[in-house]
Amino acid sequence: MADRTEGSDEATTMVVAVTTKRNCVSLSFLQLFPQPLYPSHITMDDVTRALGILEEVVGRSDCDAASLRAAISEFLNHVKGKTSGSTQVKAVNEATSGSVNIAVHGATGRLGSLILKELKEHSNPAALFSGAIVRDTYVLPTSTNAIIDVTSAAGTKKLLESLITSKASTAVIIGTTGELPMEEINTYAKQAPVAIVPNFSIGIPLVTKLAQSAVKSLPMGWNVEMTETHHTKKLDAPSGTAKKLLNAMEATGASALEGKKIPCHALRLGDVFGEHSIHLAGPGERVEITHRATRREVFAIGAVRSAVWLSRQNPGLYDELNY
Ligand SMILES: NC(=O)c1ccc[n+]([C@@H]2O[C@H](COP(=O)([O-])OP(=O)(O)OC[C@H]3O[C@@H](n4cnc5c(N)ncnc54)[C@H](OP(=O)(O)O)[C@@H]3O)[C@@H](O)[C@H]2O)c1
Repeated sequence: MADRTEGSDEATTMVVAVTTKRNCVSLSFLQLFPQPLYPSHITMDDVTRALGILEEVVGRSDCDAASLRAAISEFLNHVKGKTSGSTQVKAVNEATSGSVNIAVHGATGRLGSLILKELKEHSNPAALFSGAIVRDTYVLPTSTNAIIDVTSAAGTKKLLESLITSKASTAVIIGTTGELPMEEINTYAKQAPVAIVPNFSIGIPLVTKLAQSAVKSLPMGWNVEMTETHHTKKLDAPSGTAKKLLNAMEATGASALEGKKIPCHALRLGDVFGEHSIHLAGPGERVEITHRATRREVFAIGAVRSAVWLSRQNPGLYDELNY
């Protein structure tokens, strides 16, 4: 539709956005308002009305640039006709106060591109996409409330250095695994909420609780080992999730562990998204607790959910996400 659009750049922006999902329509539409009307003179009713007009026009088979411009013009006339001052007005920020603007660092990667897709498809109604943070420039997109970092340990370090230098206070969810830059993480956590989440799935927190409970119940003479399997492109081993699971089990001080480290074995096979198993074995019997990620999307959905939650927390380093 964009190539059929004539006229101002504003109209082009509108048409391109309208071809995507409802939420993108609303975002781009708001960007079109002339400055005096933005952001303090538009109510939620106005936004709803604008979306209604757009959806109606775009849904028609005869939709073209002229009818879109007419729709924009009708809406702007409606807003201009409103009185400001004596009329009760609300900021657009208020109208969208439930929303969290999320930027992605690592947006071109396997996981980053899925997070981008989740955000653009507006799967989580509380989350909006504010932009990608580009390697080596580290420009934070306007109005960003939370950053999801899914890069590499070196990428995380660079991002945090830039945020520390610019005295930012934007929440950062670190989904990156490997030898993370703990010094920079601790420093930034003094000025913003930060969380390290090596596994965004719902199942791993559950497996952690099961594993802790299991090792605490073990009689002496049983042994515990762990395996983790990932695709061949995974750079770090053992995985961040495995390290966190091992720490959680060891921290119970369970007597069967005899204060020793739990051995962990990493396999790198084909295109496995992620599997973690805790093996508990005693004389004549064995128990296994396993988590398998069967779709990579599960991590993208969890990343967005975590970012929404973290953006509403106070500065500090969060280990457990309580959403
Ligand atoms: N928390 C979870 O649930 C979860 C799940 C899966 C994966 N992960 C972790 O997420 C990270 C990314 O995984 P992936 O499979 O998406 O990897 P990937 O496909 O290799 O993508 C890595 C992304 O990070 C960027 N990047 C790498 N090094 C960078 C640097 N120094 N500075 C800035 N950007 C950099 C890459 O940009 P270029 O394209 O420019 O190289 C790319 O966009 C890994 O640490 C992985 O273990 C976490």
